[in-house]
Amino acid sequence: MARIVILTGAGLSAESGLGTFRDKDGLWTKYDLQDVATPEGFARNPELVTGFYNARRANLLDAAPNAAHEALARLEAGLPGEVLIVTQNIDNLHERAGSKAVWHMHGELMRALCHACGARWDAPREMRTSDACPACGKAATRPDVVWFGEYPYHMEEIWDALRAAELFVAIGTSGQVYPAAAFVQDASRAGAETLELNLERSEVSHDFDEARQGPATELVPAWVEEMLAR
Ligand code: APR
Repeated sequence: MARIVILTGAGLSAESGLGTFRDKDGLWTKYDLQDVATPEGFARNPELVTGFYNARRANLLDAAPNAAHEALARLEAGLPGEVLIVTQNIDNLHERAGSKAVWHMHGELMRALCHACGARWDAPREMRTSDACPACGKAATRPDVVWFGEYPYHMEEIWDALRAAELFVAIGTSGQVYPAAAFVQDASRAGAETLELNLERSEVSHDFDEARQGPATELVPAWVEEMLAR
């Protein structure tokens, strides 16, 4: 089991040019999440939803990992087997920076899911709802992302990892979306030390043993250097 569990959110990828959700100019100030991030929204207007994620995918293909993603990959390389990243992000910037142990609790933008048979495959650059599933042949393609009202991925393993962790760190997440927002309490109850790294204080800062404020590209490399020097 990993000794250090790191929860990441949209703030980690903000300096790579990917928008956050709830900041000023965040995605949820421009789009109604009920339209583009719920099963009901998809049922009402699948083209709108695939178009929204096609635009996110195009942004991602133009973006690159930043110094914070790179520092987390260095941490894992320097402490083999001790670091687990649980990310709410659907981008692939952790993997592109070199992190290996990454669980995507909200799914992945670069993957497609068949809502008829449950098959998964690599998403095309431009997804269409008329795309046929490679397994069952039905035109039932959707992005492999977890929408509001759906159950996040890997939850049982995540709770096990939180119970076993010595240190829990949350980076770039507003602490407004459950179950991730409660991970600090889960880890803390099980005896882990807890640290928050975020641009500003979040809704849940008071639950952490320590909370540091600043941009991820500054806070995360500095923290990683501390950890590797311990
Ligand atoms: N460095 C560090 N933190 C930052 C930076 C930065 N450069 N820029 C923004 N932040 C912080 C903001 O202060 C905010 O607290 O990142 C947080 C981003 O919060 P949200 O936009 O709410 O993103 P997140 O917490 O990842 O959202 C959770 O909500 O809509 C869903 O499924 C979506 O996974 C997402 C989930």
